[in-house]
Amino acid sequence: MQREPLVEIYPSLEGLQAAAAEWVARLAEQIGRERGRLLLALSGGSTPPGVFRLLCDEPLRSRVPWAQLSVIWCDERMVPFDSPDSNYRLARETLLDHVPIPSLQIYPVATYYEPMRAAELYSRQVAALLEAHGGQIDIALLGMGPDGHTASLFPGHPELNAPPGALAVAVANAPKPPPDRVTLTAEALNRAAHVLFLVAGADKAAKVRATLHGPNDPHATPAQLVRPLAGSVTWMLDAAAAAQL
Ligand code: 6PG
Repeated sequence: MQREPLVEIYPSLEGLQAAAAEWVARLAEQIGRERGRLLLALSGGSTPPGVFRLLCDEPLRSRVPWAQLSVIWCDERMVPFDSPDSNYRLARETLLDHVPIPSLQIYPVATYYEPMRAAELYSRQVAALLEAHGGQIDIALLGMGPDGHTASLFPGHPELNAPPGALAVAVANAPKPPPDRVTLTAEALNRAAHVLFLVAGADKAAKVRATLHGPNDPHATPAQLVRPLAGSVTWMLDAAAAAQL
């Protein structure tokens, strides 16, 4: 049965990031103990790096079963791995280079292919990882843009209606640069057991309200597509993003 999202509001961005890091560490510890392995999906944006950095250091570092983690991306920009725009690079610099996750368990999008090919390969990769993880993404970290996009699912874009079975698709003309991207589809994101939306800033307040309390209109507010059938969704907001709730 679908559960109502849980909403937590923090006075500052720092408070939100500390709570998010604690949330990830607690769940990773618990899932690792119960299942022996876990699949973690990361996002880009400005909010996650602060969370990643906290996870690298004590007291959280030693709680996370790093060797049991496999890492994928909710979305990626089609740029080289060393580009400042790369979500992979962001995660590497703020998390992956500093913790003992075996490198073979890190699955970046192959951005050296053209977008359709990269998306096709990623879709297959994610399908295989889901298979190996009991059919679920254990933890998905998502952000939301001021236009209501999440991952690289943008308002009015065709990827919102990806064909059934497609777990990753190519995105062209994204309104947030860079324009070419690969994103997990709503179908893939809805295989998550635990979703955490990290949202900060006054420019997001209207879409936070629309997502949580507005009429169901995912073409206008794609974040509404994330409703895992068998999972929980938690929103961690700073006071500015929560201002219209
Ligand atoms: C990306 C992201 C994107 C992001 C939101 C929120 O690669 O651009 O994955 O979906 O999460 O745009 O970004 P901020 O945290 O910077 O607001």
